[in-house]
Amino acid sequence: MVIHYNSNTKEPYLRLPEPHANIILTPHRPNSLNETSSALVEILNDPRVALRLQRTPYPYLSSDGEQWAKANCKDQEGILSALREELEEPGNTAVQKDTGNVPHHGRPFVDISPFTCIREVLKIDPGTGTPVEDILIGDIRLARSSFDEYPEGSEERSLAQKGNDELLAGDENIVWSLADFLAPSHHGRGIMTLAVRTIIHDWAIPRMNVRRLKSWAFEDNEGSLRVFEKNNFIRGHTLKDWALVTESRGGGKKSIVLMEWTGEDDDE
Ligand SMILES: CC(C)(COP(=O)(O)OP(=O)(O)OC[C@H]1O[C@@H](n2cnc3c(N)ncnc32)[C@H](O)[C@@H]1OP(=O)(O)O)[C@@H](O)C(=O)NCCC(=O)NCCS
Repeated sequence: MVIHYNSNTKEPYLRLPEPHANIILTPHRPNSLNETSSALVEILNDPRVALRLQRTPYPYLSSDGEQWAKANCKDQEGILSALREELEEPGNTAVQKDTGNVPHHGRPFVDISPFTCIREVLKIDPGTGTPVEDILIGDIRLARSSFDEYPEGSEERSLAQKGNDELLAGDENIVWSLADFLAPSHHGRGIMTLAVRTIIHDWAIPRMNVRRLKSWAFEDNEGSLRVFEKNNFIRGHTLKDWALVTESRGGGKKSIVLMEWTGEDDDE
């Protein structure tokens, strides 16, 4: 596991492996709210993305993007200051290494991944290899599961959510979900397959002790289902006419496919 650190901007980040080492996963940036918002407006108003998602506003306004970016900055503040402190420890130059499935140097497991922004690096510092210019091209996030396999509004769903939400950070019984999207300009190049791999292996397992991940995708979203499968998720039941589709996306209900990962086949 490697966490990179941009000591100029004091930003920790993850980097995808080759052939996508020009793609990094970063936190949200409090001083780039406008840039973030305009990238999100462009990506999330594109039907190739919007119609595959259930919960993002559509149409997606600048005010949605600004609020989202601000809320993310606030949520990520605490873990970022802890990480900066850790990465700036004497002897810890630019890169922090870890061996895997144990709390890092006795540090407690955390409950959040701050590496939610997928960015393409456009320019690096030739001396240090540090990114100096990049653009936002997508989003990848872990959250406690919302148990969409239970009917919308059902008691089963709220009980499952409540029980799961009450588990303490690092509990291996927590069921997590993973959600993602990428700008259509970058689809089909293998980027999300590696982004999912990176977030699981470089952060979720070693720092959050994530052992159970459930996700779902609309039945017709073969790209997303393949990304999960290529990361050792198992294709589960298809729930017919299940997930509510907002009126702005055409209304009605769509079938979803459940995907589950237990980490068993993953070499850590
Ligand atoms: C789904 C999404 C994240 C996939 O990201 P990506 O970087 O384009 O995916 P990859 O390039 O890593 O592709 C992984 C696999 O899916 C396949 N794939 C990708 N897009 C596909 C599509 N539209 N139709 C069929 N297969 C597709 C690829 O061929 C590859 O499989 P292979 O290696 O067996 O050939 C991206 O298309 C996206 O953002 N879509 C809109 C939002 C979305 O659907 N989010 C997920 C909601 S559950």
